[in-house]
Amino acid sequence: MKFFIDTANVDEIRDAVSMGMADGVTTNPSLMAREGGEPVAILKEITSLVAGPVSAEVISLDTEGMIQEARGLAMIADNIVVKIPMTVDGLKAVRVLSMEGIRTNVTLIFSPLQALMAVKAGANYVSPFVGRLDDLGQEGMPLVEQIGQIFMNYEFHAEIIVASIRTPMHVLDAALVGAHIATIPHSVLAKLAYHPMTDKGIEGFMADWQRVHGN
Ligand code: E4P
Repeated sequence: MKFFIDTANVDEIRDAVSMGMADGVTTNPSLMAREGGEPVAILKEITSLVAGPVSAEVISLDTEGMIQEARGLAMIADNIVVKIPMTVDGLKAVRVLSMEGIRTNVTLIFSPLQALMAVKAGANYVSPFVGRLDDLGQEGMPLVEQIGQIFMNYEFHAEIIVASIRTPMHVLDAALVGAHIATIPHSVLAKLAYHPMTDKGIEGFMADWQRVHGN
């Protein structure tokens, strides 16, 4: 299972890279806006930090605008994947971009049929947003399972990026249902590594060692 880091913050990305936990990066307009600064410069830096795919999202909502923007984004670096929102215009853009060899990640997926349409249009990645469904009191993870089943039934090779992750349980469930990728906020990544019994164990080992050998 691949771990992507869901942030546009270069310090968080560097930290995840140094842990070996950044197989890729996903950004979105909100995450980019949070960083301020010049978006192309930020994306250039991110693409140089990570060897894997870096998703950069278009702002345009019409097909032609998305295609133009995507072409520009794809020129930033070889590992850019263009994020396209799941709309009819978006599907049309994905189709053209896939014929041009520009990789796409269709985002804001909330139903298995949206994912099926995205992959038929030529998407390389689909991003179901589990946390935002959970926020509404509708379980998000069955969506991932259903998309996985559909992709398996018809041997679609697009990868599922479980997105809108809020808790370590989301990462565990994504792994249990066999999702290809989880895109994880840095704050959740830190929680995955933590267990109080690990800390307690270290304390005990240190105390025993120091009793005999001192510091
Ligand atoms: C994924 O690609 C999105 O950037 C992200 O996971 C959205 O998460 P949110 O629902 O916490 O904004």
